[in-house]
Amino acid sequence: MESDFWRQKWQSGQIAFHEGRPNALLVKHVHALALGTGARVYLPLCGKTHDIHWLLSEGFRVVGAELSALAVETLFSDLAITPSVSAKGSVNHYAAEGVDIFQGDILAVDRATLGPVDAVYDRAALVALPAPTRDRYAAALADQTDSARQLLIGFEYDQSVLPGPPFSVTADEVRRLYDARYDIALLDSVGGALKGQPATETAWLLRPR
Ligand SMILES: C[S@@+](CC[C@H](N)C(=O)[O-])C[C@H]1O[C@@H](n2cnc3c(N)ncnc32)[C@H](O)[C@@H]1O
Repeated sequence: MESDFWRQKWQSGQIAFHEGRPNALLVKHVHALALGTGARVYLPLCGKTHDIHWLLSEGFRVVGAELSALAVETLFSDLAITPSVSAKGSVNHYAAEGVDIFQGDILAVDRATLGPVDAVYDRAALVALPAPTRDRYAAALADQTDSARQLLIGFEYDQSVLPGPPFSVTADEVRRLYDARYDIALLDSVGGALKGQPATETAWLLRPR
């Protein structure tokens, strides 16, 4: 999935993935991350998600990575926060009290740049990536965060009827990607529909071994 694909999606407003409210499985299962007040939660491929608004309102700090400058600018505008912006290597760092967003390719964000994180919250990030990119993404995420515990929200459906993204990421795929570094537990699976096709939204808890 090339970066132009996503930039084009944002430019043309084709962002059906944006929920406009906190994700129900995040709200239901955030406690499984066992985070204290002020914990720093990393949202890879964060878009302009309202999950960030919700996490901030719950007393957490957030750090995100997002390719689209338009998404990041809109996120801060929606939050009514004016960030400071500086270049960090090939990414731009948007910084404000309790919020850091790295705008650019997530694979260009290293551990030192990201800083310490207490947990990862992946909603529609892993499933946004085609299979060949998922290995590099999963490895980078574990390296960037020292295998911090993770709440992973994804989709499973019949990939033969929809091309994706979002792609179907099966339980086998989650285990293949993460089993070496995490204990993996399925927290929830909720039946629904995706673009008119039956689909299941899944919530996984990954804990470092
Ligand atoms: C399906 S959307 C999910 C956004 C957000 N997590 C949400 O729940 O609304 C995937 C996002 O990943 C971003 N993205 C895609 N490839 C990326 C990359 N290599 N680095 C950083 N962000 C990327 C896209 O611009 C898009 O906003």
